[in-house]
Amino acid sequence: MSPFAYHDGELHAEDVPVRRIAERYGTPCYIYSRAAVEQTYRAFDAAFAGCDHMTCFAVKANSTLAMLNLLARLGSGFDIVSGGELQRVLAAGGDPGRIVFSGVGKTAEEMRQALAAGIFCFNIESEPELLRLDRIAAAAGVTAAISLRVNPDVDPRTHPYIATGLQQNKFGVAYAEALRLYRRARDMGHLAIAGIGCHIGSQLTELDPFVAALDRILELVDQLGSEGIALTHVDVGGGLGIRYRDESPPAFAEYAKSLTARLGGRRLKLLLEPGRALVGNAGILLTRVEYLKQGTERNFAVVDAAMNDLMRPALYDAYHEIRTVAAPNGGGATYEVVGPVCESGDFLAHARELSLRENDLLAIMSAGAYGMSMSSNYNSRPRAAEVMVDKKEAHLIRKRETIGELMVLERVLP
Ligand code: LLP
Repeated sequence: MSPFAYHDGELHAEDVPVRRIAERYGTPCYIYSRAAVEQTYRAFDAAFAGCDHMTCFAVKANSTLAMLNLLARLGSGFDIVSGGELQRVLAAGGDPGRIVFSGVGKTAEEMRQALAAGIFCFNIESEPELLRLDRIAAAAGVTAAISLRVNPDVDPRTHPYIATGLQQNKFGVAYAEALRLYRRARDMGHLAIAGIGCHIGSQLTELDPFVAALDRILELVDQLGSEGIALTHVDVGGGLGIRYRDESPPAFAEYAKSLTARLGGRRLKLLLEPGRALVGNAGILLTRVEYLKQGTERNFAVVDAAMNDLMRPALYDAYHEIRTVAAPNGGGATYEVVGPVCESGDFLAHARELSLRENDLLAIMSAGAYGMSMSSNYNSRPRAAEVMVDKKEAHLIRKRETIGELMVLERVLP
């Protein structure tokens, strides 16, 4: 099912005409479908039903409290990368015992907070991080559960900015170093070796790289086992892609089958860190056309959303489908869809056939992941409102910022 479809000539989010949301909350505005998140989460989790597993939503994809709370209610765990994300998950009612902490730069303070919260596991990305965590756990008088994130040197065949599992990337410990680091961790007083993992990149549309990476990791599991270092879980990270345009990413069932099949008889819990796959297609960004501008070479539709609201086109040249909120009835022209921000990188879409008038509403599709969470206040633009639709109801889950709020932390010189 698509939660965003045309009924009676206009685009709806579930049972709510998105025009009504624009009238009530203004634009730009992110709109999410509760049903879409629930169905997608349940389908993903059910695909792994035959296997001891834990699904840990990658908070960076969408960290709005209502979204995290919805996922927590569904039983999701969480993959966090900062103290801020930890506090958000806790504030949203997430279970600390289902949190994994990833990232190459965890500060001492972040480690202390995560230990105090009682998270499930730290995904360690370097030797100095291992030493720091042991020291901090010792000072706190606790033992920290750890998993090494190993860099398997596998090409994920995705955009270079979001490829993370190649030797040249900053992520994970080098494959050849992993055994030595596990031996070292075993001899540290305040670490408990729990698992091993990897995360090779994002928006992957093929299974082979996932399988190749897991196979590399499982080789290490077996070598460690033969040395008496028994692991209890393997974390395959996130990265499963979604359809933005014409991609055909593997179905959840295929993804699950190909991963679980590799585990063989090993008694390992499987951890998954999906972000985009759970929420990417559950959200849209609603925007209004301010001006239609005829350039000498191209037509521009200047809309009220910009690169600060949705950074993906500017940053990765990413494609997001654009739909008119009024059902299309043919005709139209080719437009560059651009925002008001003062740089040419501020585009949302190139060369789209659209039938437009000033004031028309547009929906930028597939904006549920890495949309709001990557937004900024560039050009002193307040961040967009966020609404979650639940059948006939539209709930405001984050108010639009005011200019006053943007300035509240600032002081001029005496
Ligand atoms: N686990 C780790 C350790 C990660 O670094 C990431 C994403 C994930 C899980 C979730 O990956 P996903 O399932 O969402 O692909 N801003 C970019 C994506 C950056 C992904 C960073 N890491 C974008 O808009 O495409």
